[in-house]
Amino acid sequence: MTGITKKGQGADWPPQSEVETVLITREQIQRRIGELGAAISGDYEGLKPRLVGILKGVTPFMADLIRAISIPLTTDYMSIAKYHPEPETTAAVRLLKDLDLSICGEHVLLVEDIIDSGLTMEYILAQLEARGPATLRVCTLFNKTSNRMVDLPLQYVGFELEDVFVVGYGLDYEQRYRNLPYLATVRTGRQSG
Ligand code: IMP
Ligand code: MG
Repeated sequence: MTGITKKGQGADWPPQSEVETVLITREQIQRRIGELGAAISGDYEGLKPRLVGILKGVTPFMADLIRAISIPLTTDYMSIAKYHPEPETTAAVRLLKDLDLSICGEHVLLVEDIIDSGLTMEYILAQLEARGPATLRVCTLFNKTSNRMVDLPLQYVGFELEDVFVVGYGLDYEQRYRNLPYLATVRTGRQSG
């Protein structure tokens, strides 16, 4: 390719030495998304839901989920920055990119890749609730409850996870591994999320 000097990266992607364990396969993820899509299609029939994805990790899930939903819908995205707060109990979360569309009177379904402490989702729910949606619910592909700091009602959950740091299918470690089609642990030295 013009202007691109290949340095050997890409031939062995993902590096087999880095992937530790594949926890959930591509097939398992796709099957579960089919089930979530069917449930959402039934629950929101006639309501034309607005699916709101939380960037960036949600992009593979959002792309697959909306195609598993068989009713009319609209989409929007927002982006949140999460600090590494001290103490961890403060919701140190900041809005980086707001929604493009008004959600007043809309049936909003927030779509998230993973919920851990719940602080990010708590912040988003408070922000969006104030804008007067008709309904506001949450769909997360992965759910880790062992570090949960707030009580969150989650209507659609793909998979429950142990307290282990995972990558792939949108989830990153230092911005890497988002393009793995499965969920895995990697040898990063990091122990938990
Ligand atoms: P929470 O505010 O603690 O619920 O954090 C949720 C966010 O933290 C997710 O949207 C991810 O960006 C990130 N996160 C939590 N656990 C993991 C993980 O195991 N791998 C990658 N990112 C994670
Ligand atoms: Mg996220």
